Amino acid sequence: MPMAERPYIVGNWKMNGTRAMLSEARAIDRAAQRYMKVEVAIAPPFTLIHAVHREAEQIGVGAQNCFHGPEGAHTGDISASMVADSGAKFVILGHSERRIDHGESAELINRKIDSALEAGLRIILCCGESFETRDAGRAEEFVLDQLRASLPDISDAAERLSVAYEPVWAIGTGRTATTDDIAAMHAAIRGLLDEKYGPETSANIRILYGGSVKPENAREILSTPEVGGALVGGASLSAESFLGIVVGASETEDA
Ligand code: PGA
Repeated sequence: MPMAERPYIVGNWKMNGTRAMLSEARAIDRAAQRYMKVEVAIAPPFTLIHAVHREAEQIGVGAQNCFHGPEGAHTGDISASMVADSGAKFVILGHSERRIDHGESAELINRKIDSALEAGLRIILCCGESFETRDAGRAEEFVLDQLRASLPDISDAAERLSVAYEPVWAIGTGRTATTDDIAAMHAAIRGLLDEKYGPETSANIRILYGGSVKPENAREILSTPEVGGALVGGASLSAESFLGIVVGASETEDA
């Protein structure tokens, strides 16, 4: 099955997890072996990447951020090649919590993407509008502008790229976008990817949805046109709820 057709379910542990959480990662990894049609991954905090990588036989392991340049005098930062060296295979970039907490601009995110590609990492590039922007009817324009400013120019990078649409107002709030809104936004993102990379290359880029995905809504969201997977925060912190989402993904037609 071509990679782009496998649903991609990624747990974003955010700033959660000490070594006590390794048992959850192990449980997720062992169970994921029963759902080979679903690609499962976890992005733990930097401090756990190596340990989760050592536990993982089936799942992918990634980071939640990286610095935008090579190694050097940048106290407290972690370069993309250090991320790769720790065992990570991908990095989440442009998450709204980083844009808000750390003032990350689209241009900075674009530089991080280039560094990550150079280090051989795959990328999940996040985008999403605030409630005010959606309310003002500008959600699509805003998200496409965010992407235009960050997407890498090199089209052979597209194989290693996924985009995650995460409306900011749906993250950690228990509110999800309607499947109509998700379908409309994903179609608009697909249009932009087709335009930028050409339809053949664009077809290799999965568009994930994120924002309060849980076992109860996973199947419906993942069956929505152009939804190629989910980026999951809160519900990825326990193996039980995360695996409920993996099961939902395995029941969609694409899986
Ligand atoms: P949530 O977070 O599932 O807790 O809403 C999603 C994300 O921020 O990636």
